[in-house]
Amino acid sequence: MATTQVPGTESGELDSARIARGAEARDAGTTISTVSLSRETLDEADARAREIEQQLTDDERFSLIFSVMGHVPGGLAGPRDPRIPEDLENMSAGYTPGVPRLGIPAIQSSDASMGITNPGYRPDDKGATAFPSLIALGASFNPQLVREGGEAIAREARIRGFNVQLAGGCNLARDPRNGRNFEYFSEDPYLSAVLAAEQVNGIQSQGVVSTLKHYTLNCNETNRHWLDALIDPVAHRESDLLTFQIAIERSQPGSIMSGYNKINGEYAGGNRHLLNDVLKDAWGYKGWVMSDWGATLGWEFALNGLDQESGAQADRVMWGKEPFTSDLKEAYTSGKLPKERLSDMVRRILRSLFAVGADNWGSAPPVDMDRHDAVALEGARQGIVLLKNDGVLPLASDAPLKIAVIGGYAQQGVISGTGSGAVSPVGGFAGVIKIGGAGVMGKHRNLFLFAPSPLEELKKAFPKAQFDFDPGYTPAEAALTAKRCDVVIAFGIRVEGEGFDSVDLSLPWGQDAVIDAVATANPNTIVVVETGNPVSMPWRDKVRAILEAWYPGQSGARAIADVLAGRVNPSGRLPITFPESLAQTPRPELPGLGTPWGSAVTIDYNEGAEIGYRWFAKKGAKPMFAFGHGLSYTTFEYSDLKVSGGETVTASFDVKNVGKHAGADVPQLYLTDAAGEKRMRLLGFERVTLEPGENRRITLGADPRLLARFDGEVGKWSIAEGAHQVAIGKSAADLVLRGDTYLSARQFGV
Ligand code: BGC
Repeated sequence: MATTQVPGTESGELDSARIARGAEARDAGTTISTVSLSRETLDEADARAREIEQQLTDDERFSLIFSVMGHVPGGLAGPRDPRIPEDLENMSAGYTPGVPRLGIPAIQSSDASMGITNPGYRPDDKGATAFPSLIALGASFNPQLVREGGEAIAREARIRGFNVQLAGGCNLARDPRNGRNFEYFSEDPYLSAVLAAEQVNGIQSQGVVSTLKHYTLNCNETNRHWLDALIDPVAHRESDLLTFQIAIERSQPGSIMSGYNKINGEYAGGNRHLLNDVLKDAWGYKGWVMSDWGATLGWEFALNGLDQESGAQADRVMWGKEPFTSDLKEAYTSGKLPKERLSDMVRRILRSLFAVGADNWGSAPPVDMDRHDAVALEGARQGIVLLKNDGVLPLASDAPLKIAVIGGYAQQGVISGTGSGAVSPVGGFAGVIKIGGAGVMGKHRNLFLFAPSPLEELKKAFPKAQFDFDPGYTPAEAALTAKRCDVVIAFGIRVEGEGFDSVDLSLPWGQDAVIDAVATANPNTIVVVETGNPVSMPWRDKVRAILEAWYPGQSGARAIADVLAGRVNPSGRLPITFPESLAQTPRPELPGLGTPWGSAVTIDYNEGAEIGYRWFAKKGAKPMFAFGHGLSYTTFEYSDLKVSGGETVTASFDVKNVGKHAGADVPQLYLTDAAGEKRMRLLGFERVTLEPGENRRITLGADPRLLARFDGEVGKWSIAEGAHQVAIGKSAADLVLRGDTYLSARQFGV
């Protein structure tokens, strides 16, 4: 079985020729390397920002600290904002006029993390590469591949004149109902941080500023503008904040976008503690904080750490507020907003533009759409998780099988998530089915389909097979088709997206009943699921294999067919725990579900830092499929674990492919016990591709903060003295090798 790889993505080596400038850092002992902007580049950018800022007039300063949305007929932005020049070809989510006399470019920002979106701002745009959802890339556990995707997205941004990409979604998947989990990488702080950092590094290496979002604890969509997310501040530092902290350190993103919700009573965009005390003071973040669109409730946000109001018209729609600059100007004149703070806001923006060279673009690097498609395809292949396989897969590609393909619009395409991150591919969607719903995002809630369809790709992958398609309209009808075939490939889909949480873990439109009926009619049933979150799969014991394909992007159908036919050996691992039911999760009931748009909601994230697999370990509960789980067509064995201590834990072990096929594995290093306290933490991972019989020694070192507790009193991390037990696992619930080492007590900042 041959797997097709994008050159450079599997080697663990970065192609330095593609990186304009940068410093390479390696984690102690791991082979995950990162290349971000160098210290010299950042220092130069700082110095230039200081010098240029001094030459600005106050009017110019004020014009730089807010952005307006491009005009869409009938859209949120209302009439075209006069600041947007008549001859501007590509409008997008944000426009801020530049200051040409000082070489400051106009700032144009575009969504998002899965490609360049086109929500009607650019009627002539021919479409962009629609990459897999971030949760699919999370399942690849492949930082280099995420980086390649970031580079490709930035190249497509540049040819449209966009110098800020609103990518880098790194909220933690705390709740399997969250509508936006598909825009985030995982439930784990370290995995999410490493991957988000590589997306930022990829984007910024091409001269485009990247963003990490949504700072922070923006973990549910239910009435998100009125949502107060409560969390213990110490647990927050050890989870969602640690994600941002590590991602910032590894990538120096030019901007951070705050979220819509409140955190412990203060709106994210004006949360003095999180923005000033933590982000800027404790961590020394020097880029700019932009608000989310329609999330600036008052000029005081500027005092509390917000540097730029985004999509100013959305604040008018949401809160009836004029852009905050008018109030800010008044505050400035009356001395309530110090001159130094205004200058600081502007310097941060300039520094980030200068650091990536957005003021000095020259000609855009060439865009090779075929290559970008290859990156998208590789992301889909590496992100697909084989959840269950009793040996039925891979299906023999040369057998004259009668295959029933059922449901999920599999005759038309693969689906995507909805909301501001949805990308329209080259040639347009294969179909758009309007779903609708409440609130400002209701009219954007659509089922989007990308061609080619799974049915088409399956026909290519199984040239001798005979296909029978049934739309899965009713269980009885689907069962009739299933009965007359040798094998059934049933598709289950669920549209998730911005502005909505799912009510439960079922598949909509009666699909669970359809799958159940076809599995009853034909015991050779394989299910392919396209979702942004775990689903309950009540039929799982009746089917022979299950593939979680997520929202796999424009080349997803090909990737699905490749895995089913064994042309690609599946290697994705779950970046989110699949519970047996919501009863196993920290919040069986989601506060606010069912309340009308505009209702105040409080969600207490009282699981603290014990998210996902950590929660299951704490409760001793067994999930349906654990974090890190994913099957392969070959078998890997681990042996010879050596663990050493000192400043941190370092673990070395052998991974061997003892099966018959080449394939990639993702061994995971977990902390299981810290000086007598049971504590489950992913400390490291490595994606490794091995030929049959090949053995590789892997060494993984841990970020010491993952071994520590944050001491809120002194603002430091502290490691407890004693034996620290670790394990090498195939998942958080399948720990294969165990070892321990002694760590001495120590405290450290930041
Ligand atoms: C989303 C952001 C997005 C922004 C601009 C908001 O609705 O929350 O993620 O970047 O819109 O489109």
